[in-house]
Amino acid sequence: MDKLIISGGKPLQGTVAISGMKNAALPILFACALNKEPCILHNVPAVKDIETTVGILSEMGVTIRYLSPTSLEINGKDFKPCTSPNTLVRRIRASSYLMGVELGLSGQTRIAFPGGCDFDGGRPLDLHMKGFEAMGAEMRTYHDGYTGEAPDGLFGAKIYLNKASVGATVNLMLAATLTPGHTVISNAAREPHIVSLARFLNECGANILNAGTSEIQIEGVASLHGCTYRIPPDMIEAGTYMAIAAATGGPITLTGVYPEHLQATIDKLCEMGAHITANNALETVTVSAGDQLTAIELETQPYPGFPTDMQPQFAALMAVAKGTSIIRENIINGRFAYLEQLKRTGVKTIGEAKDTACIEGVERLTAANMTATDLRGGAAMVMVALMAEGISEIRNVHLIDRGYDDIEGKLSALGADIIRRSEDAPSAPAGSSPLMTSSLPTP
Ligand code: UD1
Repeated sequence: MDKLIISGGKPLQGTVAISGMKNAALPILFACALNKEPCILHNVPAVKDIETTVGILSEMGVTIRYLSPTSLEINGKDFKPCTSPNTLVRRIRASSYLMGVELGLSGQTRIAFPGGCDFDGGRPLDLHMKGFEAMGAEMRTYHDGYTGEAPDGLFGAKIYLNKASVGATVNLMLAATLTPGHTVISNAAREPHIVSLARFLNECGANILNAGTSEIQIEGVASLHGCTYRIPPDMIEAGTYMAIAAATGGPITLTGVYPEHLQATIDKLCEMGAHITANNALETVTVSAGDQLTAIELETQPYPGFPTDMQPQFAALMAVAKGTSIIRENIINGRFAYLEQLKRTGVKTIGEAKDTACIEGVERLTAANMTATDLRGGAAMVMVALMAEGISEIRNVHLIDRGYDDIEGKLSALGADIIRRSEDAPSAPAGSSPLMTSSLPTP
């Protein structure tokens, strides 16, 4: 396993190209298993979760060929339902999408419990199950995972989701695409990745209407055909680099982004005092810090509200903002485990409850060694390490690699002093004065 070594306190500026959206590419890759013809996907991010998904689908008979590091040709002709490899399924949350694909294709599913970021509140799949059951499947939990059976195949149904769950909306869209009849998903998630999945499936001949609204209509079709599709930019990777610009000075220009997906993040950064210009036509956003960040109140909400996946990165900003900030986490229970690690750098909380944190800004942070607790919490640790004078180390980088393509390469190009080493490599004393990276041990 690797660690990142960061010598912080340097102003960052320049241009960073944003990769394709992980949470759009994942369901689209699984959707390719519904298709007996090859599809070509461009702008697929080179992140660990994609690698794991490629591994799962390949073991299940899907042929995947890399045309470039970010373009893939995927042929689902020989996909064999109910043959998923347990070890890989347990690594990512998105492997739950196999249930929708398998049930839609064969009326049967069997998968190990999916993994992904492990938050204190757990991550139930009950809404997925209720949806499949409304479509005629009998779902069961066994000691190690889930099984489901619809001996006569699924049928179209009206499904109401208690919560606007991204995963349940995706899974039910996948299940309904080839299912005879009309399916309606009410209180559906409206995230850009839902719209992207619908666009991809429609390009392949599916009949999905109103994705991006809270009532999605799906008319099942008999089969899909191949297509070429470009994955949209990653709004969370973009938001993270915007927050990094506000933390380290900027200006940093992000290229290949859709500013309309970033509105909630842009609004909150402006409220904190950052300067932002967005250009829809050029697909760029430029962020610089302004004089002094100020405290804000933040509440996570389903899209188009402020994304839960940007919450830890904003905690890092609040750590140095003037005044006391408040975060209310409404989407994912127990998403504050990362705060304990941030505190090692001097981040000050003056109150924490299960779903609320109050952060009092301090003048400066000090370098420290931290261990990533989850993907976005890990990104927040990178941010505080970039702000703190001296050398910090972040372990468990594999969690950050799940969702950030070449994070050290992109940050280095912006002027950061950051390198990756094996966790076994000797550590510099935490907080020691900035060290030339060339004097650190080589891999
Ligand atoms: C997706 C994203 C994740 C993001 C989250 C919220 C992917 C691969 N992951 O996760 O990065 O943080 O959306 O934007 O796209 N819930 C239930 N029952 C269910 C399903 C969900 O109670 O059956 C609850 C969850 O516990 C959570 C909330 O609903 O509290 C939102 O979950 P959901 O939108 O499903 O998130 P994921 O799809 O897991």
